Amino acid sequence: MSGHGAVAADAAARLAASLGYALEQVDRISALDVDAARASLEGFRADAAAAAGDAYAIRIWSGRTPEELAEALAGLHARMVTDAPAAGLDVDDETWDAARLARTETELEASGNRILQAVATHVATGEAVAFTTLVLPADGRPAYQEDTLVHAEHRGHRLGMLVKAENLLQLGRLHPGRTRILTWNAEENRPMLAVNEALGFVPVGAEGGWQRRLAAAEGGDGEASDGGGAA
Ligand SMILES: CC(C)(COP(=O)(O)OP(=O)(O)OC[C@H]1O[C@@H](n2cnc3c(N)ncnc32)[C@H](O)[C@@H]1OP(=O)(O)O)[C@@H](O)C(=O)NCCC(=O)NCCS
Repeated sequence: MSGHGAVAADAAARLAASLGYALEQVDRISALDVDAARASLEGFRADAAAAAGDAYAIRIWSGRTPEELAEALAGLHARMVTDAPAAGLDVDDETWDAARLARTETELEASGNRILQAVATHVATGEAVAFTTLVLPADGRPAYQEDTLVHAEHRGHRLGMLVKAENLLQLGRLHPGRTRILTWNAEENRPMLAVNEALGFVPVGAEGGWQRRLAAAEGGDGEASDGGGAA
């Protein structure tokens, strides 16, 4: 357990504990009132862009990732499981390439979702080094702030805030009727929570990541259960 956050000691928690699951991590569920946040977005973008300087450029789009960015973006997706805090949860490495990214986006769109993305590229190399994704369900439910990541070699330049502010501005232009966004962050993920809190996300719930360690005789290292993640 990370030592950060808490979940209710309710019937579900007692059931999980009675089955041998340990609470390893707590995610904060947060919501953003997009209308209330709108007035500050240009300022956040300008401040973050000034901190990032000329070394980075921004690309934004709605829908499938442009071919020339797909391989690098897939590489950033693979880093989510290694770079986002996992507390005591055992997390397997993931293999991503342009084909997996295309499959994921195709499935999301086939389910009626709209995808909005923002990426920062490193001007000197042309590589994508930071990304963020918003997913908009078809039926008007709240949008989801999905993964956000800045490559470890490019952190500390406010690129997380920059891509998020750019994508929220894109949301406002393309889908002005979307007024609520939900996201999930590990309670110990201070760098990501700092960005989200500044944007106006407020806590609305908590989600536990539970894991049961199997004895060697049972033939496994452990099994984990939680409700997914976001950024
Ligand atoms: C969260 C994240 C996107 C922020 O990256 P960023 O935009 O480069 O961060 P900032 O520029 O706002 O950094 C502010 C400060 O925090 C530091 N910082 C940023 N990320 C950090 C991290 N993961 N661990 C420790 N310190 C970090 C920066 O070095 C900077 O320090 P400084 O003020 O002393 O210079 C980045 O840490 C990341 O990609 N983490 C892994 C993926 C992840 O957790 N995604 C969210 C999943 S819910």
